[in-house]
Amino acid sequence: MAILEKHKILEKNITLLAIFAFLVVTVGGIVQIAPLFWLENTIEDVEGMRPYSPLELTGRDIYIREGCYVCHSQMIRPMRDEVERYGHYSLAAESQYDHPFQWGSKRTGPDLARVGGRYSDTWHVDHLTDPQAVVPESVMPKYGFLKNRLIEPEYIEDRLRTDRMVGVPYTDAMIENARADFEAQIDPYADGVDGLMERYPKAQVRNFDGEPGISEMDALIAYLQMLGTLVDFSTFTPDASR
Ligand code: HEC
Repeated sequence: MAILEKHKILEKNITLLAIFAFLVVTVGGIVQIAPLFWLENTIEDVEGMRPYSPLELTGRDIYIREGCYVCHSQMIRPMRDEVERYGHYSLAAESQYDHPFQWGSKRTGPDLARVGGRYSDTWHVDHLTDPQAVVPESVMPKYGFLKNRLIEPEYIEDRLRTDRMVGVPYTDAMIENARADFEAQIDPYADGVDGLMERYPKAQVRNFDGEPGISEMDALIAYLQMLGTLVDFSTFTPDASR
């Protein structure tokens, strides 16, 4: 009972109560926040995740430049309706190499986090060229011009180096071979395909838009077809210790 009597002193003195309340919140805050500074990693490592291949990364930059994120999110929430429509909910690790991330919250169009492999390349070319030809009621703008814009991997080494500066584990070999890898990804007969596959497992190698040359359309579709395909969810089990 003595302790309750003492507690009354606190309850009757507003200044003292404020000071002690502050102390309690501070201790609670430190206990929650401080360990994060010493944890090596707050993201569970997940097998299969790798940095984007040079062509995929270029496609991603086009995705951002064209503002696709204005209408499309890339994060599947762990709610039943989302999981049934889009597939396994998104893992933190799946956007660990994203700078900036593309989670988004605006869904004028569907979530794209797992759109890879859902449609053929030709479907994507047709849809990006004229969305209304495929989905008559679509409000998505036309992006056919991407097919006519041929691209050179002029700055690709610098692009990879920039991502490395912010923590993406691009190796020296990846940077040295960035141009070759960029070009090899649309040509299954290129000499560099083996090296590309070794550096970027599961990279899809083919002429995405079916036209000669490497266009922005190729890069964008290479990116879309990769989305959500890197982690094998038939073998994935969440690490319950975290
Ligand atoms: C003005 C909003 C808007 C913008 C901007 C937009 N989209 Fe869409 N997108 C939609 C809508 C609405 C749909 C659903 C109807 C359809 O399939 O066209 C859609 C559908 C899609 C689909 C099919 C998804 C699925 O699961 O069926 C893909 C892929 C796609 N968009 C990619 C893109 C890309 C890439 C860009 C940028 C180059 C882009 N969108 C920009 C509105 C938009």
